[in-house]
Amino acid sequence: MADSSTLRGLARFGSTQRHDAWWIEIIPALLVFTAFVIYATWRAFEGRFYEWGPYLSPFYSPLIDPNHHWWPLSPAVLVLGGPAGFRVTCYYYRKAYYRAFVMHPPACGVAEGEHRGYVGETSFPLILQNVHRYFFYIVTIFLCFLWHDAVVAFRWPDGFGIGVGGLIMLVNIILLTIYSASCHSLRHLVGGKLDCFSCVTFGKPRRAAWRGVTALNEHHMLWAWLSLFSVALTDLYIRLVSAGILKDIRLL
Ligand code: FES
Repeated sequence: MADSSTLRGLARFGSTQRHDAWWIEIIPALLVFTAFVIYATWRAFEGRFYEWGPYLSPFYSPLIDPNHHWWPLSPAVLVLGGPAGFRVTCYYYRKAYYRAFVMHPPACGVAEGEHRGYVGETSFPLILQNVHRYFFYIVTIFLCFLWHDAVVAFRWPDGFGIGVGGLIMLVNIILLTIYSASCHSLRHLVGGKLDCFSCVTFGKPRRAAWRGVTALNEHHMLWAWLSLFSVALTDLYIRLVSAGILKDIRLL
């Protein structure tokens, strides 16, 4: 057990008994999150180059009042709150951005300074992060729209067709669906609070669902990153094609 002088020494910001480069995982999170927030904010307010042919950017789906009959700003501003709230309150992202942006705490077993007591998320305002489960319900509706967009992306004026953009949109919605299906809140929904699956109604299918969600949940961080990249790259592709900078390739 550490004596009191050791503990005082560890209380200095960044002091630790760890020997690995604990700070290294902070850097990509800091860079990628900052870049994504800047890009997504710019795109949300840009209000143009969000559709081309059968393609619609995921940042603008569902597309509401594109002709500005009653909404003066970009249509994306109306819908981004749902997916943004889902990501911001996600258990994995919380860990990542607490560490990357405010270093509160910087990492496991690393002191954040004597003046900064860590109380977790037990008091205001961080206790509000518990709304995550409600964002999960909201985002499920968004996924339905995005699946619809992905199907429509294969419907061209001359019938069924496959373009690079359609394939990108399809990969994107698959990754977004896996990311949502690996959510901790969903895992709790299907199997939480239960000590015995065989003692409850629909115990067998619930156990199967819980096992499936658990398998995805074990890689939740991976799905969080992949779906973050895919949603940004899908939007970027459609923007470039819509602006005439890139030419979409029709494969079929
Ligand atoms: S915990 Fe990450 S999406 Fe729910």
